[in-house]
Amino acid sequence: MLRARAEFLEAGHLDPIADAVADAAAAGATGGPIAEVGSGTGHYLRRAHERAGGAGCAIGLDLSKHAADIAARANGGLLFVVADAVAGMPLVGGSVNALLSVFAPRPAAECARVLAPGGLLVACFANPGHLAALRRDWGLISVRPDKLGTLEDRLADCFELSGSAELEYSAELPPGDAQRLVAMGPSARHGAWAPDVDRPVRAEVSVTIALFRRR
Ligand SMILES: C[S@@+](CC[C@H](N)C(=O)[O-])C[C@H]1O[C@@H](n2cnc3c(N)ncnc32)[C@H](O)[C@@H]1O
Repeated sequence: MLRARAEFLEAGHLDPIADAVADAAAAGATGGPIAEVGSGTGHYLRRAHERAGGAGCAIGLDLSKHAADIAARANGGLLFVVADAVAGMPLVGGSVNALLSVFAPRPAAECARVLAPGGLLVACFANPGHLAALRRDWGLISVRPDKLGTLEDRLADCFELSGSAELEYSAELPPGDAQRLVAMGPSARHGAWAPDVDRPVRAEVSVTIALFRRR
């Protein structure tokens, strides 16, 4: 799963997402620390840290020791820690300027605790239309509607929504990357597998990037 994720992300099909997340994180970080919940291979954290000019420290947290290991080896200079972010992030309260969560959990209490007042939570999640045709044709698991409203409600005590944008585009995936897209996602755990394809596959990308300001 992690190998597929690393190879797929390196192929650049999700670069518009990485760029939008990095721009938001760099603006929120203002030279201070950036952290990421569920940092996976470290792809998004690295982009955000680079976009911030390499200033300040960058810390990725992931429940998976394999993810932290891969991320640490691939991203020298960034710190990756094995931690359950829901149970508690190993970070001092109020110490983070920008906190990323890309296709990953957003535990409200811990996000609020570690972010400095005025700090930014950058949340990226799939919309129902994300990869919709592939979900239908290949039996991938579906995406819940109104994630933004649900998230806003969950975070309302400590955060205000300071902006959100939908990012939609179409990507042409070579056959190997279509296989990787399925293998790297949650559907793989439920036994889904992309059929053998010998031609490029069109994928409709549709995500929301939401910015929540810590009060
Ligand atoms: C779908 S992957 C996304 C990884 C990365 N953000 C990306 O988009 O490439 C979700 C990640 O969240 C991590 N994760 C799930 N629950 C977690 C938790 N409670 N604390 C920390 N990480 C968690 C998983 O191990 C996984 O690496």
